Amino acid sequence: MNFQITSEQEYQAAYNKSVDQPEEFWNDIASNFHWREKWHTTLKWNFETPDVRWFDGAKLNITENCLDRHLEQRGNKIALIWEPNDPKERALRYTYRELYQNVNKMANILKNMGVKKGDRVCIYLPMIPELSFTVLACARIGAIHSVVFAGFSANSVADRINDSQCTVVVTSDGLNRGAKQIPVKSVVDEALEHCPSVEKVLVVDRLGWPVNIHTGRDFWYHEELKTVSDQCEPTIVEAEDPLFILYTSGSTGKPKGVVHSTAGYMVYAGYSFANVFQYKESDIYWCTADIGWITGHTYILYGPLLQGATSVMFEGVPTYPDPGRFWQVIDKHSVNIFYTAPTAIRSLMASGVDHVLAYSLHTLKTLGSVGEPINEEAWHWYHTHVGKGKCPVVDTWWQTETGGIMISALSGISELKPAHAGLPLPGIQPILVDGEGNEIQGNDVEGYLCIKFPWPSMIRTTYGDHERCRINYFATYKNLYFTGDGARREANGMYRIIGRVDDVINVSGHRFGTAEIENAINQNKKVIESAVIGYPHDIKGQGIYAYVILGDLEANNNNQTRDEIIESVVEHIGRIAKPDKIQFVSGLPKTRSGKIMRRILRKVAEGELSSLGDTSTLLDPTIVDEIIAGRLT
Ligand code: WTA
Repeated sequence: MNFQITSEQEYQAAYNKSVDQPEEFWNDIASNFHWREKWHTTLKWNFETPDVRWFDGAKLNITENCLDRHLEQRGNKIALIWEPNDPKERALRYTYRELYQNVNKMANILKNMGVKKGDRVCIYLPMIPELSFTVLACARIGAIHSVVFAGFSANSVADRINDSQCTVVVTSDGLNRGAKQIPVKSVVDEALEHCPSVEKVLVVDRLGWPVNIHTGRDFWYHEELKTVSDQCEPTIVEAEDPLFILYTSGSTGKPKGVVHSTAGYMVYAGYSFANVFQYKESDIYWCTADIGWITGHTYILYGPLLQGATSVMFEGVPTYPDPGRFWQVIDKHSVNIFYTAPTAIRSLMASGVDHVLAYSLHTLKTLGSVGEPINEEAWHWYHTHVGKGKCPVVDTWWQTETGGIMISALSGISELKPAHAGLPLPGIQPILVDGEGNEIQGNDVEGYLCIKFPWPSMIRTTYGDHERCRINYFATYKNLYFTGDGARREANGMYRIIGRVDDVINVSGHRFGTAEIENAINQNKKVIESAVIGYPHDIKGQGIYAYVILGDLEANNNNQTRDEIIESVVEHIGRIAKPDKIQFVSGLPKTRSGKIMRRILRKVAEGELSSLGDTSTLLDPTIVDEIIAGRLT
């Protein structure tokens, strides 16, 4: 690794170079990777169309960088430690050589199932080693993986499969979640009733459950394993060939498939991992995210493996068998770098500090936070009780669309300030703009967070609909990538992320569009109209508050109707998007042109009743009084 920054001066020098000579800056970093052919053009870009190309002309396979090139030096080093849901079950360890062999076998199985370069493979698996094998196996053969978090419903799976026309699905019989066991294959079966593109399904046996096997379509992984070799030549791809699709919610319509390219994503994943966490060769690193989200893609698999690191993958939940589970795993595997989400920290905080104090945690050097703003109280608890006051907490701001960490302290190098993501990584040029898109200069200012120059792992398109990508991210402000977040830049230039400024709710670090949840609620026949907003929630960051108009007024305040509405959301999106509060109303505050005044609904949900603003221009101002009277606290 020749690109690890080791001091504040080096950071400043690297940052300046990345702005003054961006191509040279990235050429140097990219030269640390293994290329079958070098690029002829470092960068070509246009944010209007948008069209961004990095390392054009290069040929590579990302798994050669994650696996093959480590075999000589690190063949016997542990690449992956898998910690099961049940602490009594044995943890599994895979060396780089074993991981390489498992990936090759999975790649050969996929090939036998007919998967070719450019084909889309839907991966709907829990956090078991086979999930990692499958992701990397797709990359090995140039197929595009689309991982769908195993908490999504059959409808959501079907939508995602159909949008990208996946031909193969990889899944499991069921999954463990704390004390519960949850079916998985049956969800796929239900989804596939509506997915004509899918030809084959591969099923991993996790629980020993019987499943429906559709002859000719479904195959057991353990049976197929017997038929394949552990050698598989990597398929060589072009720099801009897509590596994966990951669906994420936006402010409008159904989730969109964010497309990442191969070379740029690789370079940025490896670079950002090494620098933010200041990873050293012997470190044991653990990111608690699920590989179903971008954090798991970049910082459980690609980033760590690109650096030859040892990465822990955890099947379970923070509270099973008790709220000391994270800390027990840290001691068990001597974890040095730990990366988790504020929502987990807050929920463990609520369970009491005794669960933490029961463990030594002396191996920890660096702590990370991701997914939502971390409040100061949680930051201090994390720093004091988990990090014993000696581990830097890096608060990493980024998005599915950015592919990697954009704004964050570098562990042990940058100044830390609780609840502040800090300074941009070298190569990243954030700016704040006002509502008209004018850049807000200077410090101690607040505005919409945009990025004004391309970086290698940025979104390339939204699958099958490039115009949607343009409108969502590049049309709001001319020549800028718009993040959808608001931010403050403090006196010292550090950024503090305020949160989403669009109709996206961030629940426990998971993104949902309000329109998406409203759609699911409206599927219930009793519902005439609904409006969903986010409100501050002690543990989840944001909770989901739904205002619902029912056709049959008799059903008002009826708990059964409430349960049915929740059921609609579970069925159409998944259990992770359940509304926390459902208030039945006879109408919604609308302008004369029929637009719902969400600002008012938000204020009511937040309990800020004195600052509702002028309601006299509403179509029916009296509705506000009714909503206030029926407010759920
Ligand atoms: C929010 C997760 C404050 C933000 C990697 C962003 C954060 C959205 C932070 C992306 C942070 C993420 N501080 N807010 N450190 N990290 N966010 O796509 O609103 O699941 O736009 O990516 O999460 O969520 P996504």
